[in-house]
Amino acid sequence: MPTEKEIVLSGIRATGNLHLGNYYGALRNFVKMQEDYDCNYFIADLHALTTTPDPKMLHENVRNILAEYLAAGVDPDKATIFVQSDVPEVSEMYLLLNMHVGIGELLRTASFKDKARKQLGLNPNDESEDIERQIVGSDSNKRVNAGLLTYPTLMAVDILIQKARKVPVGKDQEQHLELTRRFARRFNSFYNVDLFPEPENFNFGSASVKVPGLDGSGKMGKSEGNCIYLVDDEKVLRKKVMRAVTDQGPQEPGSPISEPVENLLTLMALTSGPEVVQQYRDAYADCSIRYGDLKKQLAEDILKVTTPIRERYLDIRSDDEYLAKVVRQGAEKARERASRTLEEVRKAMGIIKFY
Ligand code: TYM
Repeated sequence: MPTEKEIVLSGIRATGNLHLGNYYGALRNFVKMQEDYDCNYFIADLHALTTTPDPKMLHENVRNILAEYLAAGVDPDKATIFVQSDVPEVSEMYLLLNMHVGIGELLRTASFKDKARKQLGLNPNDESEDIERQIVGSDSNKRVNAGLLTYPTLMAVDILIQKARKVPVGKDQEQHLELTRRFARRFNSFYNVDLFPEPENFNFGSASVKVPGLDGSGKMGKSEGNCIYLVDDEKVLRKKVMRAVTDQGPQEPGSPISEPVENLLTLMALTSGPEVVQQYRDAYADCSIRYGDLKKQLAEDILKVTTPIRERYLDIRSDDEYLAKVVRQGAEKARERASRTLEEVRKAMGIIKFY
């Protein structure tokens, strides 16, 4: 008897183009997983509204990410590709699941605190600010929106409504996955049902990935302005890499590698492979390293990954008919399972129709 394929689900917010962090943290795995799993990939347009509601840009951003999924090799004949808002069952279940989510646990989520600090105009690095007091005291002009607070509920619903077990995401999403597992257990035990499996992060071959930025510290992120985008053209890309922060060079043999250089080597490990990285580590250790060479090699190897994606992206992005076909077909499939799960959730909660 054929065994059923395990269900995979992941999404990316529609907030701009995809960078190397999105690619190595998520998209590359999307493509690899579609061979062996029942894969469901979506574009999180509702999640984008929690930070950047912009009616002029939202649809463009959805289109960009859809075209980037396809250009990177996600195949609509193998995986279900859809737009989050095309599955209205998600919004209903979000309301229902929120009845089982504590405000306290949402307020304690690291990503919420970071983004709330930004929305309130506080220093994002100042952990000492009493963020909860600031939120309660904030006036309606400078507010933290409730959608941001309940971001993890919506993400949990994306996953649970498809009953996914595997979720390919980067390291920064681990806390959200932990909350998803907690909500699943809580729902199952409160209603004494066995509706939701507990999903886990998935990354081919290793622990979850955190791709660093080019600015010497921290992760690559759209709001950090330290990104290499999959669709950057060759000139822009080379310039960004050549300008990446390094250090003054090793002062004596065997010096520990500084954070900015370590970050470039991390990028290199992803794009160029372990032998090349070792060569530069050895050169650092014996003080013969030349950052110009390292950066040239890094730019070259990144371009090998991004150029074919960029070329396909430029073709696909304006093909309205094809894009519409992909997401129409995807929404139909995604809604099938979502509506079944929603029915089960309603029933468990005692929402029963008279007619
Ligand atoms: P988003 O758009 O913030 O990130 C999309 C994916 O890219 C990964 N990522 C990174 N991975 C490694 N290094 C980095 N520097 C880096 N930057 C971003 C993120 O981990 C993520 O996998 N909340 C999700 C969107 C979402 C979702 C879901 C994901 C909504 N519902 C359900 C999975 C399942 C997010 O962070 O998107």
